[in-house]
Amino acid sequence: MALSVAFDTDPGIDDALALILALRSPEIRLALVTTVAGNGPLDMTTRNAVRVLDYLGAAHVPVAAGAAAPLQKKFRGALSYHGPDALGQVPLPEGRTQIEPRVAPDLLFEFAAAAPGERILVATGPLTNIAHAFQRHEEMPSLLKAVIIMGGAFRLTSYGTGNQTPYAEFNIWQDPDAAHVVFRSGVPMIIVGLDVTNDPSSALNAADLAQLREGSSRAATLTADLLEYALRDHEYCFMHDPLALATALDDTLFEFTTGEVDVVTRDDEERGRTVLLPAGSRSNGHAVAKVASSVDGPRFRELFLSRVLEG
Ligand code: RIB
Ligand code: CA
Repeated sequence: MALSVAFDTDPGIDDALALILALRSPEIRLALVTTVAGNGPLDMTTRNAVRVLDYLGAAHVPVAAGAAAPLQKKFRGALSYHGPDALGQVPLPEGRTQIEPRVAPDLLFEFAAAAPGERILVATGPLTNIAHAFQRHEEMPSLLKAVIIMGGAFRLTSYGTGNQTPYAEFNIWQDPDAAHVVFRSGVPMIIVGLDVTNDPSSALNAADLAQLREGSSRAATLTADLLEYALRDHEYCFMHDPLALATALDDTLFEFTTGEVDVVTRDDEERGRTVLLPAGSRSNGHAVAKVASSVDGPRFRELFLSRVLEG
């Protein structure tokens, strides 16, 4: 029985690669996509989610828009990396003209409540929508099997330092207040930070692009277009968001450590810094999180490329 998954996302090149992997993975059923401002403003990330899903034959997957700005901090995107359209200017047709009229937090709650304890929420952008959902529906953290989060940098490896600042990873830095709400909600968390996603052994490269160009499917050509843009100024395309999803596909690809996660919400040079503390360090109900401490990069690359290229 496939695992029902909701994606809260800010497409974004690597978010789009994660959506492609999700649609090509029989272990999961993509039941809902909600969008958040992050790599780009909300209108862009929503347009991009729709274009990717519809182009790949997933127009049946509902899409709902969420937050256009963080809970408290000022929004700042990442278009310098993802391109002026936040999707590498890949040639994609426009998608559906109508998305879900209801807001993301309420649809995320309904997704969780439909099968208590059985469903997974994958968060590959700032955690604003999830924080809103938990604030509007206080029972929601207890209804989810887990939230898988791409975010944070815990110094578990030499790659585990920041990419927005020396301390902070982009998703968490963008909305540290939302991260604080989620980290202390008690929801079971699997967190994949830069400690493993910035490991070049798990990234895609120019040789992968050449292999993808031999593919004929829409998934292969879209992946190649996204990768080509990401590699125009970089040796690697880091697979932050597909790696987070991969924990739901084959968690033997990873090693994990556990502990309580906290975050700096002050708007100073340590904004968005994430720390991993021993279980029990905080008396106020922090859940013990599983935090990825290593990844088998070659096996992850094989999983991703084989699924995109098959069929
Ligand atoms: O720091 C990397 C994360 O920030 C990824 O999810 C990327 O898409 C951006 O959202
Ligand atoms: Ca993202």
